Amino acid sequence: MKVLVLGAGAGGGCPQWNCNCAMCAATREGSRLIRPRTQSSIAVSPDGQRWVLLNASPDIGTQLRSQPALHPKQGLRDSPIKAVVLMDAQIDHATGLLSLREGPPLELYVTPCVFEDLTTGLPILTVLEHYCGVRWHMLPVAGEQKLAEFAIDGFETLRFRAIAIPGKAPPYSPHRHDPKVGDNIALEITDRATGRRLFYAPGLADVGPAELEWMQDAACVLVDGTFWTEDEMLKAGLGSKRASDMGHLPQTGSAERGGMMDALDRTRAQRKLLIHINNSNPILDEHGPERAELSARGIEVAHDGMEIEI
Ligand code: MLT
Ligand code: MN
Ligand code: ZN
Repeated sequence: MKVLVLGAGAGGGCPQWNCNCAMCAATREGSRLIRPRTQSSIAVSPDGQRWVLLNASPDIGTQLRSQPALHPKQGLRDSPIKAVVLMDAQIDHATGLLSLREGPPLELYVTPCVFEDLTTGLPILTVLEHYCGVRWHMLPVAGEQKLAEFAIDGFETLRFRAIAIPGKAPPYSPHRHDPKVGDNIALEITDRATGRRLFYAPGLADVGPAELEWMQDAACVLVDGTFWTEDEMLKAGLGSKRASDMGHLPQTGSAERGGMMDALDRTRAQRKLLIHINNSNPILDEHGPERAELSARGIEVAHDGMEIEI
């Protein structure tokens, strides 16, 4: 199975259009080794020919243009992207669907909560009915059901599992303040031939025993790398929200709770990567001490264009 990182940044990307924070400014000036990152999305393929898009970023136009594997191959109108799965209904993960409106109906795999958000608070799917239309494949992660195995047409060599994880619905969701199973999912994708597994969770508010178990022997985990510390936005004067207010577990922990680095230290996953990196996060600096700490623990930082063979 092949994984292509289309966008490794969080909302806003890096540099963010209106931001002069240390990381955004240094990225623009080239004064530190920081790669620009577009907003959060990856694509997965069993053979390099047919791809499933995991999240659809507002930067999808640039992302697809820069990836030859995802260009049209045959006939007048065509795309190697055959289906789209969303992890949540956040702007950075969903609004790219609007840029796919010129194609055939979208084969879209989302939970009932995400479907609701995308037809109410952010009614993208309703709008798309006036263009390509959407075929909704419901991922039955809701209520008591926290896990759903599903298949995607044309991708029979892969097994997909959607897993409810701790997170937050977006600010415009009818249940922003009343969390529901299905607001946020992780995806486990297993190559049936080799048994090797990818665990993908770009938004993850906590890593409890269940999440650790999912990550344990994965060939690759690609997980929430949004923030280095819980209060990094506040300290930098960039905003008033803490990492936990936004549903993200920071890399560094506190006395009460371990961070993402502690969680990853406890897994035997063969490759451990952070993705969905916010532009405030000092791990973006490839020569910085935070990046060195990650490297010492065997943790990598995903970047746009990164290819992962699983
Ligand atoms: C988040 O995951 O919290 C987002 O990146 C926020 C956003 O898109 O503005
Ligand atoms: Mn996000
Ligand atoms: Zn910034």
